Amino acid sequence: AANERESLYLVSEFANNYFQRILTKTDQGKSIGLSYFKERGFTDETIKKFNLGYSLDKWQAFTDEALKNGYNIEYLEKTGLTIVKPDKHFDRFKGRVMFPIKSMSGRVLGFGGRILTNDKKAAKYLNSPESDIYHKSKVLYGIYNAKQSISKEDNCYLVEGYTDVIQFHQTGIKNVVSSSGTALTSEQIRLINRLTKNITVLFDGDAAGMRASLRGIDLILEQGMNVKVCSFPEGEDPDSFAKQNTLEELTEYLTNNAKDFIQFKANILHQDSKDDPIKKAETVRDIVNSISKIPDRIKKEIYIQECARIMDISEEVLFSTLAQIDKKEQ
Ligand code: CTP
Ligand code: MN
Ligand code: MN
Ligand code: MN
Ligand code: MN
Repeated sequence: AANERESLYLVSEFANNYFQRILTKTDQGKSIGLSYFKERGFTDETIKKFNLGYSLDKWQAFTDEALKNGYNIEYLEKTGLTIVKPDKHFDRFKGRVMFPIKSMSGRVLGFGGRILTNDKKAAKYLNSPESDIYHKSKVLYGIYNAKQSISKEDNCYLVEGYTDVIQFHQTGIKNVVSSSGTALTSEQIRLINRLTKNITVLFDGDAAGMRASLRGIDLILEQGMNVKVCSFPEGEDPDSFAKQNTLEELTEYLTNNAKDFIQFKANILHQDSKDDPIKKAETVRDIVNSISKIPDRIKKEIYIQECARIMDISEEVLFSTLAQIDKKEQ
């Protein structure tokens, strides 16, 4: 099985080199793929750093090249790079720009591929299927390029997408990773936990982004980590925002808008519950529920005090609510 996994790594590495070569050295790659990345504002240096690539808009260009180079069809199929049918085989990522997904140590595990059109019928991003080397719930896009900086800054920015990670790097912020299209998992948070105890969740300025960050909070707190949340203006995501701003402006925005999770929840949940006692009660319960996930008793107490202050409720009531929740959980 170790041998087989090694074969999957090798064919993925071959594909990574191939897609980069197509992007930078062929006419089609340059006129379609490279100009797409340039339009998004990515420099040659950035494209190289993230090993971005292009998969030709042909049915089996990659697969044929891999077979010609001696790679086994069995491994091409297992990595999902090739889709094998009884009578034919074809390239999964046909006509897409490619984002290789790497492990903490820099090995290529899988790919995300983006279509170049705004065709709403086709999936915008296509990702590698689960394989013996790629488990999407256990990887974070960008972790290899970010790990040093996460340790050094003692903080990790968590974004939604590939291009958010890349644009942040290009702007000068390197401690950033993405869960890339899966709901954040405990395993992904554990990867960050090895490097820092502090996570700042940056989500897209839309309803989906808001929901995703709310879901992430409890998972982060459960591991005894500290979580802040920073939202972006309606319609913007970290990529589009970073693209329009200098490093100084971006840094200032993040500093001014990152809120601790209680403030964040109080703000968004409380918005539509200002004068409604029932909704206010729900908001308080929601916050206390998050606080109940924190393993450290001292931190728990400090957050209860903060919640009491922000929501204007007695600490006593909050502590007894906390006790009720703890009891239910047992
Ligand atoms: N995603 C996915 N499949 C889709 C849509 C999104 O896997 N059909 C994942 C991708 O990893 C994507 C992330 O979810 O990067 C966030 O989605 P979204 O905000 O829609 O995309 P962006 O990252 O903003 O991509 P772009 O700027 O290229 O539109
Ligand atoms: Mn496995
Ligand atoms: Mn989004
Ligand atoms: Mn986005
Ligand atoms: Mn985007």
